[in-house]
Amino acid sequence: MDITVNKSKPLKGTIEIPADKSITHRAFMLSALTKGSTKITNYSKGADCMSTLKIIEQLGCHINYLNDKELIINAKNAIKAPAAALDCGNSGTTTRFMAGILSGQNFNSKLFGDESLSKRPMKRVIHPLELMGAKFIHNDYKLPIEICASQLCGIDYVSPIASAQVKSCLLLAGLNAQGETSFTEPYKSRNHTELMIENMNADIKVEGNKVSIRKSILNPVDITVCGDISSAAFFIIAALIVPNSDITIKNVGINPTRSGIIDVLKSMNGDISILNERIISNEKVADINVKYSDLKAAVIQGSIIPRLIDEIPIIAVAATQAQGTTIIKDAQDLRNKEADRITAMRIQLSKMGADIQENQDGFIINGKSELKGDCEIDCNHDHRIAMSAFVAGLICKKPIKINQFQWVNISFPEFLELYSNLT
Ligand code: S3P
Repeated sequence: MDITVNKSKPLKGTIEIPADKSITHRAFMLSALTKGSTKITNYSKGADCMSTLKIIEQLGCHINYLNDKELIINAKNAIKAPAAALDCGNSGTTTRFMAGILSGQNFNSKLFGDESLSKRPMKRVIHPLELMGAKFIHNDYKLPIEICASQLCGIDYVSPIASAQVKSCLLLAGLNAQGETSFTEPYKSRNHTELMIENMNADIKVEGNKVSIRKSILNPVDITVCGDISSAAFFIIAALIVPNSDITIKNVGINPTRSGIIDVLKSMNGDISILNERIISNEKVADINVKYSDLKAAVIQGSIIPRLIDEIPIIAVAATQAQGTTIIKDAQDLRNKEADRITAMRIQLSKMGADIQENQDGFIINGKSELKGDCEIDCNHDHRIAMSAFVAGLICKKPIKINQFQWVNISFPEFLELYSNLT
């Protein structure tokens, strides 16, 4: 689906953002590891989470859809050997988490994915899992990967990268391993797995950037998933850069390990208010009001990077509208996402007229620049590049065309409908 994006009217009104993708993956997979029934309310309907749901069905879970927002996962007959290979689609989270769950089972299984996922690095999970005793058959640590039946032993793993996917993979493997499994990372990545596992009564301990787990039986606990701050980010920045905008986004997860974007945008002079803070299913949630603002440049680096890793493409769009030079560093792992997000954003924003340079680990962006638009955007088969380009298009002088905008369905199928609700 190719779309044209025109200069926008001010964004006004209130929207509710769909469910968090990261938390939905965890809710599906951790429920599958209980021997009971779990009701999940407000799950993400993006294609990535649907890949996870389909896989847990193949592993023996029965899914009962109650209505548009609620389903029940019955895990009485899980986890059992799947009859066919497991399709992770475009989802790195599905692949890396499933590697952790499947490597300690008494049956063999096989994971595969789409073209983009088949190029992404899996050594970051295969290597520590092999240290735990897991056995894999693979070609250069890429999908497709065969996972052989093994018994795992806990290890004390110090990760060279901050990664919630690697951490969660090892915690999931550790739930079924002899002894203790520990994971230490250089900076704290998102902690949804820890929070959910803790609520399900597992033997888990968190000390700073180190998490340890012991073999545990998980209690089924009903889960309500809050709205996704990574999806909200596109509308937060749209409201900050489209003149005269004033919007409220309801029910957004503001877990501190995910809310780096709010800290950065506030430091850039963004007019953002956090309202009605509350806790839902062990996660911090709030409503967020955002008004058009005169943004200033920022330096974004170090420990804040894992707290906003998925928001960097859209922060780059905000930086084009901020007075001064924005520098983004320490974000080299962006090159390993659904696309190389550093090169992709540099190319697409340059076409629109931004002053942006790429470095190995980030960007240098000079603002404020007028975006001329009048160009064709390639979203690089990447949902976040597609939505970032869309938001930039809202302030371009002339329309832009975005090719293959359907990639948005990976995380946010409701994106266009919510935009039209605000204009
Ligand atoms: C995710 C962790 C992050 C993030 C991804 C989702 C998760 O990946 O980029 O979109 O749900 O744990 P890394 O752990 O590879 O940084």
